[in-house]
Amino acid sequence: MAVRVLVVDKLAATRDGVAEILGERAEVEWASREVAVAQLRIASNSGSPFDVVLLEGEPPPAAPYVQSLATGGARVILLAGGSDPIGLAQKCGAADVVGRPIVASELIFRVARAPVAGADKRRPRKSDVLIGSGTWIKELYDRIAMVAATDVTVAIFGESGTGKELVARTIHNSSPRHDAPFVVVNCAAIPENLLEDELFGHVRGAFTDASRDREGLLAAAHTGTLFLDEIGELPLPLQAKLLRVLQSQEFRRIGDDHDRRVDVRIVTATNRDLEQLVERGGFRQDLYYRINVFPLHLPPLRERPEDIAMLVHHFVQKYRARLGKVIDGVTPAALARLSAYEYPGNVRELENKIHQAMVIANGPLVEESEVSLPRASPAPMLRIDTARPFRDVKQEAIDAFERGYLTELLRLHHGNLAQAARAAGMDRKNLWALVERHGLDRDQFKKP
Ligand SMILES: Nc1ncnc2c1ncn2[C@@H]1O[C@H](COP(=O)(O)OP(=O)(O)OP(=O)(O)O)[C@@H](O)[C@H]1O
Ligand SMILES: [Mg+2]
Repeated sequence: MAVRVLVVDKLAATRDGVAEILGERAEVEWASREVAVAQLRIASNSGSPFDVVLLEGEPPPAAPYVQSLATGGARVILLAGGSDPIGLAQKCGAADVVGRPIVASELIFRVARAPVAGADKRRPRKSDVLIGSGTWIKELYDRIAMVAATDVTVAIFGESGTGKELVARTIHNSSPRHDAPFVVVNCAAIPENLLEDELFGHVRGAFTDASRDREGLLAAAHTGTLFLDEIGELPLPLQAKLLRVLQSQEFRRIGDDHDRRVDVRIVTATNRDLEQLVERGGFRQDLYYRINVFPLHLPPLRERPEDIAMLVHHFVQKYRARLGKVIDGVTPAALARLSAYEYPGNVRELENKIHQAMVIANGPLVEESEVSLPRASPAPMLRIDTARPFRDVKQEAIDAFERGYLTELLRLHHGNLAQAARAAGMDRKNLWALVERHGLDRDQFKKP
């Protein structure tokens, strides 16, 4: 099995050079220093940890940083030129060193010497990886890890495009059922009169067209996971049948005269407010309690704009391979543009935007002009409520604008006030006062 290598460098092109030398021996990915630690954690949480980190030695990395790269078990190899590469590696605590410029035989020797971790683990498809920064993704991974090992029913809530299906797959892939089927049923996409047949199957002669027995999707998911998407659209009579499956693992095919047993873990998802649906009589309360044992709530993308940079990077890598284009990322201006948008369609919309941009881009970076987004809407400023005093409404609009501007500015300049002030054409002291007034935490924008 190939060694998994993460190249950590400013230049994504280093990845290509390394990948070419290592060939079939390795699966090589790239990350900048800022996102590398998170990328390593995500890879190891999703069951495909990196075995080796190839870290560019310029500027010399700090020892705590090297240590944080190694926490997941990866061997950190420094790529270093200069007169004393070994000394440099020792100083920062890297496990090994490869000289710059890279000599193919040396690179192969150093990398291949690293033992292959997790060789016997099932590796999910790379596209299965859930990306995010900040505490919400950590908590999500913790909760997934907690529930994956059990057969507990999971309910995933979130707006369209927030990754509900991806989370359902991640649960299945991290569960002891991962080798059994993962069956998706979209309750909204199948007409009501066919849904029962699809789910539960029928016996021959059950109705006019039933010339043969037919297994339903529930039976197809036996020993595996059944993902009931858009559960809020499940018709009431089927809700009763599903409740029975959840209570006793039993169901009956259409036209059958006896019950069958089935062993499935059920994961449901919806973008509707189920509680409200229960109140209005559209959803059974007992079923609601049954499926809501272990809820997972996925936040909309606009509530976690700090994830955008990582997601952009992830999708660039995904489509780069598919489109066969040498595109390493997006320009800072393009990223600023992408970060300023609200994404009503959430991650799926962001993914589509990146895909579209990469189709027209020539690289090496996607330009701002190649990103097609509705002009950043000054929505918060335009919500004008004439029922309230002019002064209050105006102050609110100004506050919203200042916060948005400062957040974006600090993100671009990694919390460096002097740099940010220069870019904004502001006095450093005034900028500092404004940042303080809005209670923004500069450290949050700092490079690791
Ligand atoms: N955190 C994430 N990291 C990486 N990719 C993500 C993430 N969240 C969503 N995606 C990607 O965005 C796309 C949409 O995700 P998914 O289909 O899981 O959303 P959904 O919530 O089921 O949407 P819908 O309600 O419209 O069915 C997929 O291609 C998925 O891989
Ligand atoms: Mg979905």
